[in-house]
Amino acid sequence: MLSIEKYQQIFVEYLEGYSTIKEPKNLYQPIEYILSLGGKRLRPVLTLMTADIFEGNYKTALDAALSIEVFHNFSLVHDDIMDDAPLRRGQKTVHEKWDINTGILSGDAMLIMAYQLFENYDAETFQALAKLFSKTAIEVCEGQQYDVDFETRNDVTIPEYLKMIEYKTAVLVGAAMKMGAIVAKASKNDQNSIYEFGKNLGIAFQLQDDYLDAFGNPETFGKQVGGDIIENKKTYLYLKALEFLNETDKKELSQLFSSNPEDVSSKIEKAKQLFKSSGSAEATKKAIQEYTNQAFAVLESLNISSEKKNVLKDFGNSLMNRTV
Ligand code: IPE
Ligand code: IPE
Ligand code: MG
Ligand code: MG
Ligand code: MG
Repeated sequence: MLSIEKYQQIFVEYLEGYSTIKEPKNLYQPIEYILSLGGKRLRPVLTLMTADIFEGNYKTALDAALSIEVFHNFSLVHDDIMDDAPLRRGQKTVHEKWDINTGILSGDAMLIMAYQLFENYDAETFQALAKLFSKTAIEVCEGQQYDVDFETRNDVTIPEYLKMIEYKTAVLVGAAMKMGAIVAKASKNDQNSIYEFGKNLGIAFQLQDDYLDAFGNPETFGKQVGGDIIENKKTYLYLKALEFLNETDKKELSQLFSSNPEDVSSKIEKAKQLFKSSGSAEATKKAIQEYTNQAFAVLESLNISSEKKNVLKDFGNSLMNRTV
């Protein structure tokens, strides 16, 4: 096994060899732009690492890892349109730099490119990867639709929220790992366990994403801080605050989240204050820890050495402490 940094470096080098600008430029330049903006490369690293964990070879997992990262970046391009987001990885979002139509079509092309990368595998592996990919991609769409539907609903429950983030985010983290296991020809049991590990880690990851969206440092976060508040996203922070607040404050928060005021900064300040005073910020931190622990519990059922389990645990713990 290699270090996380090494997998990351190998992946980025592979990515650089992949993206070339063809004609028409207005289709391919935005693709090159978003793919080269950086990002944590969390999912492809997990794919490569998982292939090695199951005694495969990370090199054979490079196309699966690339597919996952291209798909992830496609989902961000469309997500930023849907969330009206100005910033991504500290730079302009694709639809801000170009326009919405460009974001739609370049995104579409990326989704197809992601699928196309499976052609580099033998028929059996191709089928397993494609099957997992299709199931996952449809679930991501379902999660994204729930996310948007929830913006205008005022009766969203915590179980509904958890289902939504499982679909929009966590299944892709699970799939990234399962793809590594598929390429390494791990047993079905191990494939399923590593998927569950990734899924639980993915839930913790999205909870942390929601936390950082409100409480991240604008200097380093790379996205618009408070974007979820502006868009009336029914996050864990919001739902737990409603649960904890007294009637008066609860009313204020829920009214705040059914409005679209001109003055976004006072909306953001007020919401953040209520997230803190209600104890929901703390409760979110606790939930992140709990889902991370749930992921770690799944590791116990895996047929791998304790050294390898520790590598996965270190990775999970480092995600919890991230600031971007
Ligand atoms: C952002 O994902 C979208 C979510 C699912 C929260 P990342 O936080 O992995 O984004 P990058 O790729 O590192 O920029
Ligand atoms: C993103 O959720 C999930 C997908 C892109 C599928 P968010 O909307 O919270 O992601 P960010 O915060 O914009 O990265
Ligand atoms: Mg978004
Ligand atoms: Mg979104
Ligand atoms: Mg977010």
